[in-house]
Amino acid sequence: MNVVILVCRLAYVEAGAEAQGCQYYLNSIINPVPAQSHTTPNLPSLCLYGPMLDLEVVPERSLENEQWEFALGMPLAQAIAILQKHCRIIRNVQVLYSEQTPLCHDLILNLTQDGIKLLFDACNQRLKVIEVYDLSKVKLKYCGVHFNSQAIAPTIEQIDQSFGATHPGVYNAAEQLFHLNFRGLSFSFQLDSWNEAPKYEPNFAHGLASLQIPHGATVKRMYIYTGNSLQDTKAPAMPLACFLGNVFAECVDVLRDGTGPLGLRLRLLTAGCGPGVMADAKVRVLERCIYFGDSCQDVLSTLGSPHKVFYKSEDKMKIHSPSPHKQVPSKCNDYFLNYFTLGVDILFDATTHLVKKFVLHTNFPGHYNFNIYHRCDFKIPLTNKKGGADSQTEAATLTTYSKWDLIQEHIGHPMEKPVVLHRSSSANNSNPFRSTFCFGLQRMIFEVMQNNHIASVTLYGPPGRAAEAPAQAPAQ
Ligand SMILES: *[C@@H]1O[C@H](CO)[C@@H](O)[C@H](O)[C@H]1NC(C)=O
Ligand SMILES: *[C@@H]1O[C@H](CO)[C@@H](O)[C@H](O)[C@H]1NC(C)=O
Repeated sequence: MNVVILVCRLAYVEAGAEAQGCQYYLNSIINPVPAQSHTTPNLPSLCLYGPMLDLEVVPERSLENEQWEFALGMPLAQAIAILQKHCRIIRNVQVLYSEQTPLCHDLILNLTQDGIKLLFDACNQRLKVIEVYDLSKVKLKYCGVHFNSQAIAPTIEQIDQSFGATHPGVYNAAEQLFHLNFRGLSFSFQLDSWNEAPKYEPNFAHGLASLQIPHGATVKRMYIYTGNSLQDTKAPAMPLACFLGNVFAECVDVLRDGTGPLGLRLRLLTAGCGPGVMADAKVRVLERCIYFGDSCQDVLSTLGSPHKVFYKSEDKMKIHSPSPHKQVPSKCNDYFLNYFTLGVDILFDATTHLVKKFVLHTNFPGHYNFNIYHRCDFKIPLTNKKGGADSQTEAATLTTYSKWDLIQEHIGHPMEKPVVLHRSSSANNSNPFRSTFCFGLQRMIFEVMQNNHIASVTLYGPPGRAAEAPAQAPAQ
């Protein structure tokens, strides 16, 4: 579980005009199937006889079977967890994202052997569109009845029969595809023979033409999304079924005074009131604040139990202490409470059990901790150091999506050189991810990626504490 390893960096250029010139990098989710098996000559035949996914299509909602469900609005981490759990059935998954401009293009999970793509909103990292791009690789049904399988071709007649009437198809001359749209569901048809196309040519006057789709045309692609238009669709709010008893953060505001951060105000989302009452469960929004100096018990009663408790190893920090060789007398270590679904870690002092640090995680792909935390959607008000005159103070806010060069324009450049963070996993000391740089300013440490995005922000309480590197992910 939980091994996302970048194995190869294949430059990939999307053909679509939208993404033109954008470089995607490709990595694979390594699963327990040994990597070598991908290159054995036996594999192609295994693929041929492997079980084909048999999935139910629910327009505007999901693609699912008895064991799992890819639901619109689902967080990326949950979709990856499904893929990891069922890695023997869903064998090849590519993760595609733009390394340099990760917010400009959807993050894509490509289930290459099943002909399915899951498109996630680049900002909120929730499932936006489910695309089946190769219908020969899956069986599909609607209301329990197949409309696509080895025996049933997904022709226009079949789709009419299974889904009923809708508006006439729309022809897109550029793609040479007919689109048939239902609410939350679209089919693209390709003509079987090109000689049929010219018949419709005179109608192209306005670029798009409403037409009867020719007989025998078969579905080339299918899309599931929210609303009436695939082009304008957005990832919906997280469905109730995705909460699974967890608390999520809609947004996190950093509270501060003139000198630096004081605490966090979290807008929390919960659902369900316990087992058995899911039927009338609904999402509740709660606002909670936590501050530096709060006790561990305060935090537990405010946020609930963490997903993990991680004890810092004393050894790493010893070198920075005045007498590194001196044996630490007690076995006490400072400890983190890791709230993965909030995207927040909280560090407690080993002896006082009071909050010492907060760490906010942005979950950008390509980072060492990618997919461990949900993205924390934070806002940090900045005090402007420019100009010097108090009257000139501009309100600026740093968010999860801010880039480091813009942040510096507001808060000035750090005096000290950055600390380079080159993480390594405990199992194997090689780190396939690029190093990050840590800059300290105004009692905050910004961990900056090579693409200028912020990977994490560590917030400190009252001054006087030694600077430390951001939290390590819990050891696996
Ligand atoms: C997904 O995988 C398929 C099969 O390997 C490939 O043809 C397609 O180009 C991939 N899609 C993207 C967006 O990379
Ligand atoms: C560590 O990683 C390298 C390169 O990825 C690999 O060759 C080596 O076998 C790995 N070692 C262990 C102990 O897993």
